[in-house]
Amino acid sequence: MNRLPGKASKIFLIIGSSSFLAKDLIKKLSIKNLVLCIDKDIKKNSPNKNVFYFKCDINNYKNLEKIQKKINRKYGYLDSVVNCFVHQNYSSFEKQTAKNFSTALNTNVLGIFSSTKIFYKLLKKSKNAQIINLGSIYGMVSGDPKIYPNEKVTSDVYAASKAAIIQLTKYYAIHLSKYKIRVNCVSPGGIFNNQNKLLVKNYKKKVPINRMAYVKEIVASIEFLLNDDCNYINGHNLVVDGGFTAW
Ligand SMILES: NC(=O)c1ccc[n+]([C@@H]2O[C@H](COP(=O)([O-])OP(=O)(O)OC[C@H]3O[C@@H](n4cnc5c(N)ncnc54)[C@H](O)[C@@H]3O)[C@@H](O)[C@H]2O)c1
Repeated sequence: MNRLPGKASKIFLIIGSSSFLAKDLIKKLSIKNLVLCIDKDIKKNSPNKNVFYFKCDINNYKNLEKIQKKINRKYGYLDSVVNCFVHQNYSSFEKQTAKNFSTALNTNVLGIFSSTKIFYKLLKKSKNAQIINLGSIYGMVSGDPKIYPNEKVTSDVYAASKAAIIQLTKYYAIHLSKYKIRVNCVSPGGIFNNQNKLLVKNYKKKVPINRMAYVKEIVASIEFLLNDDCNYINGHNLVVDGGFTAW
């Protein structure tokens, strides 16, 4: 079954579609492809017609299954799923609570399981399927508390979530290879988004090329992986950090 509207060529599902990162990604992908979006808070900010939205919390497994069935009925397959959702948590260790830790870990890690478990059934019907997860440099190295001038710091549960996502990427790359589904991860460094000036100054000192990332650079790395010429890349963690983790 292939009922793509207009001249769309591939079907992408973006989960966490209202995120800062996904906004630019959807804008680029929807020029030539059909883009399906899931988020718990829908923001319809794409100028293109080939974008469709489903409001759903990643923790709502039953609802996700319903969406999967709808997509199956209408299109029959998915080419790629990009997992951009994150439950942000900016607590210091001293202020962290077991409840908040558990909520964030559930959304960020169990959410990747749910997304993979539910949508691989549609991906395996694509000729060239891929899952792209969003990791972070903080899944590889600890955030330096000296970067953060106020109490909004990078947290233990964010680090644990991102490390888990990098590892799950490898696990699923191996275990879904029998379905010809590749699984990769993009791990960005800090993306400039008008953060606190002192934070930006402190952060830049940690980066060999002395700046934060531009969102278009992270979008470009996802587009790179989605390119059919990159079909041999599997189980990879593509670090896009200006060299932050290199020294
Ligand atoms: N922004 C950065 O500097 C940066 C750096 C490294 C990695 N990343 C990663 O890139 C991805 C996107 O980051 P961002 O800063 O654009 O994110 P963001 O905080 O702007 O957006 C997160 C999105 O996830 C959605 N979400 C949260 N909980 C959800 C749930 N339970 N169900 C469904 N949706 C839910 C939110 O509604 C929101 O739209 C994340 O995985 C993040 O960890 C971002």
